[in-house]
Formats: sequence, structure tokens, C-alpha cells
Amino acid sequence: MPITPKVLAFAGSTRTDSYNKRLVKIAAAGARAAGAEVTLIDLRDFPLPLFDGDLEAREGLPPNGRKLKDLFLAHHGLLIAAPEYNSSITAVLKNTIDWVSRPVPGEAPLACFNGKVAGLMSASPGALGGLRGLVHVRAILGNIKVLVLPDQIAVAKANEAFNSDGSLKDPNQQAAVEGLGGELARVIARLRA
Ligand SMILES: Cc1cc2nc3c(=O)[nH]c(=O)nc-3n(C[C@H](O)[C@H](O)[C@H](O)COP(=O)(O)O)c2cc1C
Repeated sequence: MPITPKVLAFAGSTRTDSYNKRLVKIAAAGARAAGAEVTLIDLRDFPLPLFDGDLEAREGLPPNGRKLKDLFLAHHGLLIAAPEYNSSITAVLKNTIDWVSRPVPGEAPLACFNGKVAGLMSASPGALGGLRGLVHVRAILGNIKVLVLPDQIAVAKANEAFNSDGSLKDPNQQAAVEGLGGELARVIARLRA
């Protein structure tokens, strides 16, 4: 019986006008078109304190950490649009990964990540489109047992790249981002068949 791939999609930015939020929406549409069920979330709706081992020991996982963990557990794959800050991952994305990676009693290690598949993209007003940050995001996810798709997309000059309806001006780039979402859906379906 073929399964319906379930994909959790989000950007590593909380900014209202985030280019990465626009980008991940396009990939999410591509995944849906390929048959996936996609949950698109905004990390702004899940504010978390900076990870602090003393806070965790005292209070356990914050309620938004629990909500995010439940979302990760309920999906087979991740679509992440990760902005680049100082050549690397944003604090909000790393902090989310750190909290979600923490085991709770009775849970297998890295339960939220082990065996998941991820598609990565980035957008930046800069000439490299956030490509350097993706190197770090890829390494982090790989080290916590996520299978990261080889293809990724970095949208340069993001301040000029989008139409007002949220699509990309370059039709080839639009198709490539949709294609990344579609590829994620297809790989999950094949791995789970
Ligand atoms: C602290 C900080 C560091 C940044 N460092 C980089 C960088 O190294 N490379 C880059 O291309 N853009 C960098 N930028 C610019 C971001 O790409 C830009 O703010 C982008 O709009 C962030 O993504 P968003 O639109 O999804 O929020 C930086 C921005 C901030 C706030």
C-alpha cells in the first residue's frame, strides 16, 4: 500500500516579510502537487526560550517545544528554507532543532529526526543566496540522522526575485523549487513503500 508522504515545512526566520517563508511556500506547493500532505508552520507561532540545560532540568520541555516535537513526530519529511546569518544557520532554526532534539522519557534518541528526509533551500539578498548557511544546516541534519536530499536551491538577490503573488520571477527557478518539494514527496514515498 503506498503511503501519503507527510511533510512539515517551515522557514528558519520569524520575520513577517521573510523571503524564506515565501520560498518554502513554493516548495510546499510542489510537494502537495506530488501527492504529499504538507503542514506549513511559522516558527513565530512557536516561540522558545534559548536552550538552557538548567531550565530544561527545572521545567522540562517548554510547551511550544512539545508542540513542535509532536509535529516533527507526525511527519516523514521536512522542507526547510534556511536564511544565512553570518555565513551560517540562524539562531531561531538552531534553537528549534536543539529543543526538538532533546529526548523525553520513553522516547528513542533523536526520534524527531531519525529516518526523516529533508529538502533544503535558502533565499538571501546577497549574491550567494544563503548557500554557505545551507552547508551548515545540511551537516547538522545529517549528524542527527536526517537524510538530506542532494539537490538544494539558493535564491540570490531575493529582494528582487519574487512577484507580488509570492511566486518567483524566474520560471526556471520557480519550477526548480516546486521540483524540490516534489522530489521530497517522491523519495519519502519510495523509502516508505
Ligand atoms: C545577523 C544577520 C546576519 C546576516 N548574515 C548574512 C550572511 O552571512 N549572508 C547573507 O547572504 N545574508 C546575511 N544576512 C541577510 C539575510 O540574508 C537577510 O536579512 C534575509 O532577508 C534573511 O532572511 P529572511 O528574509 O527569510 O528573514 C544577515 C542578516 C542578519 C540579520
